[in-house]
Amino acid sequence: MTAPFDLVIRGGTVATASDVFAADIGVRDGRIVQIGEALGEGAETIDATGRFVLPGGIDSHVHLSQPSGEGITMADDFESGTRSALFGGNTTILPFCLQEKGQSIREALKCYHALAEGQCYTDHSFHMIVSDPTAAVLGQELPALVADGYTSFKVFMTYEGLRLNDREILETMDVARRTGALVMVHCENEDAIRYLIGRHEAEGDVAPRAHATTRPVAVEREATHRALSLAEVVDVPVVIVHVSNGPAIEEIARARARGRKVIGETCPQYLMLTADDLEGMDWEGAKFVCSPPPRDKASQDACWTGLESGTFDLFSSDHCPFRYDDSAGKLNPKGRTSFRHIPNGIPGVETRLPILFSEGVMKGRIDLPRFVALTSTNHAKVYGLERKGRIAVGMDADIAIWDPAARRTIRHADLHDGADYSPYEGVPIQGWPTDVILGGKVMIRDGALEGRKGDGRYRPRALPRL
Ligand code: URP
Ligand code: ZN
Ligand code: ZN
Repeated sequence: MTAPFDLVIRGGTVATASDVFAADIGVRDGRIVQIGEALGEGAETIDATGRFVLPGGIDSHVHLSQPSGEGITMADDFESGTRSALFGGNTTILPFCLQEKGQSIREALKCYHALAEGQCYTDHSFHMIVSDPTAAVLGQELPALVADGYTSFKVFMTYEGLRLNDREILETMDVARRTGALVMVHCENEDAIRYLIGRHEAEGDVAPRAHATTRPVAVEREATHRALSLAEVVDVPVVIVHVSNGPAIEEIARARARGRKVIGETCPQYLMLTADDLEGMDWEGAKFVCSPPPRDKASQDACWTGLESGTFDLFSSDHCPFRYDDSAGKLNPKGRTSFRHIPNGIPGVETRLPILFSEGVMKGRIDLPRFVALTSTNHAKVYGLERKGRIAVGMDADIAIWDPAARRTIRHADLHDGADYSPYEGVPIQGWPTDVILGGKVMIRDGALEGRKGDGRYRPRALPRL
C-alpha cells in the first residue's frame, strides 16, 4: 500500500499568524493536505520534535540583477540571490523589474523572466518599477500587466532618472485605482537631497557618512506625508516601503487615523544599524550606504514599536547587494571620490528572518504569530500570493523548520549571497532555519542544500487582499 502522504512533518510546533499548536503536517502533490495528530509515516518523514514549523518566509522586497548605473554590477543574480534567500528560510521572493526610460514594461519583464528562468531556488514574482509613465504605459500596458498577474508597482520620489514628479505619481496611482493593483512608494525628497549634497560637496565633505546627513529624517518624513496625501487624493491604498524612523511612522499612523488604507514596511537595517556605521576608515562606511539611511537608537526603538504595535505589516530585507571591495561595487572609481557615487543598497535576504527571530521572538519583543505575519502571511495577502504564507489545508507546502536553540554568529563566510560582506558581521543569533521545503520538496535538509536551481518557479499573482 502506498503512503497517503508524500511527506509528513511530524512532532513539531506549528505556528501560523494567529496560533501556535502541536501538529503533524501531511503533504501530497506539493500541497498541505492534512494537519492533525499522529498522521503516521509518509513516503518521506521529517521528525521536527523540538522545532518550530513555520510558513516559508516571503521576502517581498528584493533586488536582483538590477542595472544600477554605469560600471556597477549587482552582486546577486537570480541563482545566488534565491539560494541565499532559501538558506535564510524563504520560499518565495518578490524582486523588482526595472523599466528603463523609453522601455516598455512588458519588454523589461521579458528580460527579467529570461534572467530568472531555470535559475531560481525559490518561487518568485515581480513588482514593476515604473520610471517612464507614458500615456501608453498608463493607459494600456500597466492595466494589461495587472490582468496578467503583475499586481504591484513601485514608484520613486528620489534618484535622478528614476523619480516621478507628483503629477506622474498621481497618474500611476490612478492605474492602481482602476485596476485594483497596489502602488509601493520610496519616500525621499530628491530636491532636498540634491540641495544637501551640493552643500556637503562644496565643503569637501564627501565621505560615506555624508550619505546619511544628506538624507535626513525630514527628507523622508516630508515625502512620506506627500505620498500619503497623493494616495488620499486618488483614493487608493498605498505601501510605504523601507520606513526608517519615528516621524515617518507617525505620518502613517495619522493617515490611518484619517481612514486611509496604508501598508507599512520596515527592514532589518533600521533595527540593527545606525548612521554611525557609515563612519569608517578607508571608506568602510560604504558597506552601510542604503536609502533611506539607518539613523539612530531612537529610530530603531520607533521601528521596534511599529513592529510590535501593528503600524508595520511587512518586514522585508530590501536586499540590494553590491560587493564592497570591487571596482564594480561600493568602491567603484567614482564612488571613491564622493559618497554620491556609492551604489545604494545592502545585502540581507539570508539574515532577515534570523535577525527578527533572534532579536524579536527570542528577546520577547514579538510573539511567534506576529513573526509569521510580518515575514510571510502578510506578504502573501498584500501581494496576492493566494496559496502561500499559511500553514493550512490546500496551501502550497512551503515550510521552514526552525531550531530555536541553534546559536550562530553571522559571518559572511557562512552566507550564500554574492556580496563580499554582511552588514551584520559578528551579530549573535539564536534560532535558525534547519530545513526548508518548497512545494513539498525538501530543498534544505539539516542545513545542507538538496534542492536544485530551477526548482523555484514564477508565480503570477492575484490582486491584493487588504
Ligand atoms: O538603498 C536602497 N534601499 N537601495 C535599493 C533600492 C530601493 O530604493 O529600494
Ligand atoms: Zn526604495
Ligand atoms: Zn529596495
